[in-house]
Amino acid sequence: MNTLLAQYWDRYATGLGARQAAENPDGDHRFEWTQYPGHGPGDELLGQPATSLELGSGRGRAVAYLARKGVKATGIDLSPVQCENARQRWGDVPGATFVQAEALTFLSSHEQSYDAIYSVWGCLWFSDPETLLPLVRTHLNPGGTVAFSHAPAVPGSYGVQGMYGEGFTGRQLWVHRWAYPPETWADILDRHGFTHIEAGILDAPDPANVGTLIVQAKA
Ligand SMILES: C[S@@+](CC[C@H](N)C(=O)[O-])C[C@H]1O[C@@H](n2cnc3c(N)ncnc32)[C@H](O)[C@@H]1O
Repeated sequence: MNTLLAQYWDRYATGLGARQAAENPDGDHRFEWTQYPGHGPGDELLGQPATSLELGSGRGRAVAYLARKGVKATGIDLSPVQCENARQRWGDVPGATFVQAEALTFLSSHEQSYDAIYSVWGCLWFSDPETLLPLVRTHLNPGGTVAFSHAPAVPGSYGVQGMYGEGFTGRQLWVHRWAYPPETWADILDRHGFTHIEAGILDAPDPANVGTLIVQAKA
């Protein structure tokens, strides 16, 4: 476990993540892929799973939403604070489980498979897809769905992107993110054996604003 990275995400949980959740109280009752409340598709992108796994589940809203619909829904997150918040808020929802774990480590050390594995602005953004997607595929039941969303790549700025998580005078904490246009995501999924691939950018409610990359495929 990279302790500094977990602390970085703990700070996000109590800072920006908490503010965004407070600004969107209805987010407790919806499944949202985009950064715009009430905008875009919902959990229909996952099909009708009996079991699901969210990678980077944050405050646990999507996990709780699926569990309330009868899905056996698990969320994993690197941040102890996010997991504790999720357990406190949603721990009494039958079928909702929250595990504190790093995604690659969790998938490498567990055998269980799922009908849907998804990530909402989570691990598919913050993990090398060449490593993560093959692991995701081995943990999907036949015909199962992978789906994820995050910000579109800045045009011309593709591949792994790095930032200093504690600023330029802080400890040396590197946070990595992977950014590709939709066609590259489709190619990566295809190379790793996924089918029925759909990758695109959904416009923001005001198309002049930043849209949302949404990708889905089947095992
Ligand atoms: C931007 S937040 C999104 C959280 C949530 N999905 C939402 O929509 O509110 C990204 C989340 O991914 C988690 N995360 C990042 N990298 C991770 C990794 N390698 N393994 C597990 N969780 C990770 C962070 O702790 C954080 O809670």
